[in-house]
Amino acid sequence: MEVRGKVALVTGGGAGIGRAVAVKLAREGASVVVTDVDEQAGDGTVREIDSGVGRAALFRADVTSEADARGMITFAEEEFGGLDVLVNNAGGVSEPYFPDGEPGHWGRAIDLNLRGVMLGIHFGVRAMERRGGGAIVNVSSVGGIGFGPYDKPEYGAAKAGVVRLTASLATLKRRMGVRVNCVCPGLVDTPASRRERARMTPEEQEGLPPVPLRPEEIADAVLMLVEDETMAGRVMIWREGEPWQLVPPSSLY
Ligand SMILES: NC(=O)c1ccc[n+]([C@@H]2O[C@H](COP(=O)([O-])OP(=O)(O)OC[C@H]3O[C@@H](n4cnc5c(N)ncnc54)[C@H](O)[C@@H]3O)[C@@H](O)[C@H]2O)c1
Repeated sequence: MEVRGKVALVTGGGAGIGRAVAVKLAREGASVVVTDVDEQAGDGTVREIDSGVGRAALFRADVTSEADARGMITFAEEEFGGLDVLVNNAGGVSEPYFPDGEPGHWGRAIDLNLRGVMLGIHFGVRAMERRGGGAIVNVSSVGGIGFGPYDKPEYGAAKAGVVRLTASLATLKRRMGVRVNCVCPGLVDTPASRRERARMTPEEQEGLPPVPLRPEEIADAVLMLVEDETMAGRVMIWREGEPWQLVPPSSLY
């Protein structure tokens, strides 16, 4: 898909990976709806894009809210005439991790990292169908891949859900002309990961990879998944310090 002239929407576009993705898509010529629960953060991205990068508009949306998810898609259609690209990026998790927190606490992590993605796709594909197709990229995590122990179980489970959801939706390309793919990054240098690092003991920090990925690298990966028409239901894994790889669709694990 040629991004120039298309309409894109990025959730959690106010900071980190979402901000880099929004700026990248705008630089490539898309009109970008930046959505974020933090209006000020979202506004910062819109200002950056407005300062000569391209065209953007802000819509405050909490991806865990059905009304907001519906509203952000409607906004894209009203503001820029439709929706061609959706990047479900908003996500994250906070302590205490499952099972130490209350159900309301870990439930919010599931809502943010899995249900929010599903709400975006639910309303997004309807708008894309009206345009004859589109591309969706979900931001999962390497935390959602594998069969070993993991220190943030609710986050890992939700991100694993996003991976399975993405692969399950490969058939949407045939049914609706909508390609759904996802990227699973390792450690990325963002406000969220910097906050987490600041809470770690020096010993824990020593265990971190020396060079994390940059948000701009993930933005490049997202762009590739949007542009390459052969990509549908594909899962990209990108661990820091390694080249990215696409999981073969026939893979058992
Ligand atoms: N940073 C990493 O190391 C890393 C690694 C793997 C995956 N990820 C994933 O990448 C995505 C982006 O992470 P990041 O590190 O850039 O995060 P970040 O916290 O730096 O930025 C996330 C943005 O999303 C917004 N947001 C939070 N909750 C929201 C909600 N309910 N609705 C709408 N917006 C919301 C925040 O306000 C913020 O602007 C997340 O899905 C995260 O799980 C991050």
